Amino acid sequence: MPVSPAGRVPKVLATAEAARDVSADLLLIPVWKRGEPGAELKNLDAATGGLFARLRSRGDLTGKTGECLVLPDLPHVAADRAVCVGLGEPGALSPAAWAKAVRTGVRKATGKPGRTAAVLLTKEVAEAVGLRRAAEELACAATIAGAGPGLYKSEPDRSPLEALTAILADTADVQPAEEALERGIKLGAAVNLARELVDRPAEDVHPESVAERAAAFAKDVGLGCTILGPEELEAERCGSLLAVARGSARPPRVVVLSHLKGGDGPTLALVGKGVTFDSGGLSLKPNEGMKDMKCDMAGSAAVLGAMAAIAGLNLPVNVVGYAGLVENMVSGNSYKLGDVLQTRQGTTVEVLNTDAEGRLVLADVLDMAVTGGSWAEPADRLVDLATLTGACVVALGEGIVGGFPGVNSDGGEAWWAEVQAAFEAAGEEVWRMPMADSFKSLLDSDVADVKNVGPRYGGAVTAAKFLEHFVGDKPWVHLDIAGPAFREKGAADMASGATGVGVRTLVRLAENFGQ
Ligand code: BES
Ligand code: MN
Ligand code: ZN
Repeated sequence: MPVSPAGRVPKVLATAEAARDVSADLLLIPVWKRGEPGAELKNLDAATGGLFARLRSRGDLTGKTGECLVLPDLPHVAADRAVCVGLGEPGALSPAAWAKAVRTGVRKATGKPGRTAAVLLTKEVAEAVGLRRAAEELACAATIAGAGPGLYKSEPDRSPLEALTAILADTADVQPAEEALERGIKLGAAVNLARELVDRPAEDVHPESVAERAAAFAKDVGLGCTILGPEELEAERCGSLLAVARGSARPPRVVVLSHLKGGDGPTLALVGKGVTFDSGGLSLKPNEGMKDMKCDMAGSAAVLGAMAAIAGLNLPVNVVGYAGLVENMVSGNSYKLGDVLQTRQGTTVEVLNTDAEGRLVLADVLDMAVTGGSWAEPADRLVDLATLTGACVVALGEGIVGGFPGVNSDGGEAWWAEVQAAFEAAGEEVWRMPMADSFKSLLDSDVADVKNVGPRYGGAVTAAKFLEHFVGDKPWVHLDIAGPAFREKGAADMASGATGVGVRTLVRLAENFGQ
């Protein structure tokens, strides 16, 4: 896999200098829809001979959400161009909306390499979002805005910022803002790592190369790393994962990354589906359904990205990340319809659709996390992330993660509350799905304990109920990210391709874990 441009991050700085004096390629100015302009905007208005007031009275500058107005070469302003981004109604600003505004504006500078940006972090924004949170979001957003899917273009169309300056109104705020900026950069880099792994094609991102990449960054950030290949997985009797892998020329890997900084405290396991390409196997997908299936390892990518950030932030918790990496392909060796698989946990599975492969991979990896082994201690609580079902995309669309709280343990409800709180705090969206046991019998098989597919209707839930066989009695939440993991079309605030969904939620979950 080539060296990543997404791995580069901007140098950050917080300053209380006047906005007009800060030199940068881009000066980002947040603008509200109504009300008196803040002190900083008034200063800029004065410096430019009332330009901003004129633009507003003419209706060229409205401050409505999503607005992005580029003003090059302003007189008496050191930056090469100012970019006004609309924040909407005064005060009603969520951290996620602030991040979106910053991404929209900063993307105006990241089309060329070596650019610098300065963002005006006004008093009003700090009041609405909190100063630290606003600074963190701004750095994370600016880092995300510096990477995109054009990784193989002869001329790069997206490059990380060289430097990022947050302009604050108050010198007293500089120190806390700088800490928050550094944190935001780490989060943004973790999101970009996940995005890059998804955006690169399956010829470059396959089980072996992902494992190599994971081992390399594990060393850099100080994570424990165990990699299991075919022999080890055979010895662990991972019959279900190995069956999926069998049709591919690429041997499978399970990557286990551990961050054990929580002493005697409990262990959190993060488990990711890592199908580096999903052709559907013998139940072959049509072209339309297959073309983006390099994204089918987004669950693993989120886990790996989150582990990098958890280590980078040195969180005082025990977290183990699992990536179950296989390629689902067609060959004379492919697993077949009607085959009966022996999972590591013992449950036998009748395969009636080789395209329902993610659950077969997760079955064995979840069980590895539950029992523990030479790679890690047994998990006390689990979350898995998977681009598992098209049915979940039908149910919730492309922006919302499906959350399936396990009913296998007494602690399931409390664990779900924690997962939901982590989503909320991270500014990512989840929607609770049902886990009624009535769905379980839809997977009854005549020849084995269960079959790997149920009826079409309720497909996201039957998939989740399948996984429930493999999590023992541990509190567990399944997250289906098939919708939000990958975007076919870009927008002003976000490139097309991988989104890195889940990374920030997992980091937040680890932060709150055991507190
Ligand atoms: N990887 C797909 C699910 C998917 C669909 C991910 C769209 C991202 C976008 C998964 O392996 C799959 O093929 N699921 C089947 C399950 C079916 C055979 C029961 C599906 O959703 O059609
Ligand atoms: Mn599939
Ligand atoms: Zn799949």
